Amino acid sequence: MIDQIRNVLVIGAGQMGSGIAQVFAQSHYKVFLYDNQPEALDRGWKAITQRLKKQVEKGQMVEQQRSVALRHLQKVTSLEEAGQVDLVVEAVVEAMQVKADIFAALDTLMPEKTILASNTSSLPITEIAAVTQRPQQVIGMHFMNPVPVMPLVEVIRGLATDDAVYETVKQTAEALGKTAVEVMDSPGFVSNRVLMPMINEAIYAVYEGVATPEAVDAVMKLGMNHPMGPLTLADFIGLDTCLSIMEVLHEGFGEDKYRPCPLLRKYVKAGWLGKKTGKGFYNYS
Ligand code: CAA
Ligand code: NAD
Repeated sequence: MIDQIRNVLVIGAGQMGSGIAQVFAQSHYKVFLYDNQPEALDRGWKAITQRLKKQVEKGQMVEQQRSVALRHLQKVTSLEEAGQVDLVVEAVVEAMQVKADIFAALDTLMPEKTILASNTSSLPITEIAAVTQRPQQVIGMHFMNPVPVMPLVEVIRGLATDDAVYETVKQTAEALGKTAVEVMDSPGFVSNRVLMPMINEAIYAVYEGVATPEAVDAVMKLGMNHPMGPLTLADFIGLDTCLSIMEVLHEGFGEDKYRPCPLLRKYVKAGWLGKKTGKGFYNYS
């Protein structure tokens, strides 16, 4: 049983994976970053180097800290290349089959002691764990976006997650300077069970012609002191991810109040995924 994490493999170099790799490296964990799309791996790497450079320019970090963080990071082009690690954090697309295939592969590749964590926003940890022979070593480690800024890590226990594994992951989150909050395995956990229906409702308000995206966002920013309006936040999260989460809530609870707004479906079908594709409720080019 592992009680201290030293090296970490992050799978998926998108906005979450690149942020997760960065915060681990800044805390001096040895980090391997993998993505199955070489361009995505390069984009994620570039995003990390740019953010670290910006932190030096802003005086939030000295040059030596930047170079030490970079020395702790390594890009890998296969899961095998990472070798044996203490912890894996999976941050690929929000799709059960993709995650299940990765966890099944990790289960055969990684030593028995390795903890397998998913950054999933909503998918059942218990179901992901069931594709492995080590469900007691599988856990949800849900970082918030943008990872370097947001203090929360929602730590989700699957049905079989070992107490010692939970403690190790909690302590690891704290070593990154984050606050861990324990939640049980349930659709959307707590974060997205509460946040995503609000975003979906904001999309319905636009769909029904109640207000423009700008007006909806202004109401929530100025009236409720939210740092971003719900539609800006949806574009920031990614509309594909928002739709996947609403589908998990709808299927998991079986209640109409979680029905994804047709406008959200339409945007995702059009490839308007928000900030990452340059178009969503707003334009970003
Ligand atoms: N990556 C890294 N750092 C970022 C960033 C990014 N994408 N965007 C902004 N930042 C940093 C900036 O560098 C800046 O850092 P310093 O203060 O240290 O200089 C800081 O964040 C503030 O940035 P700005 O002044 O440019 O802008 P802001 O004051 O509007 O803050 C924000 C930006 C922190 C993103 C803020 O708008 C915010 O808190 N938005 C809401 C974010 C949120 O709700 N996240 C949760 C999403 S849901 C989720 O993650 C769960 C899920 O499963 C979907
Ligand atoms: P993203 O689209 O930015 O990145 C996903 C990355 O996964 C891409 O680079 C893609 O090439 C890679 N990928 C896809 N299939 C792969 C595979 N089989 N092997 C290796 N890499 C693969 O997505 P994201 O926003 O970073 O979200 C990633 C995960 O984090 C999702 O589960 C999402 O629900 C969760 N999450 C997202 C947010 C958010 O605000 N976007 C917040 C918390 C958690």
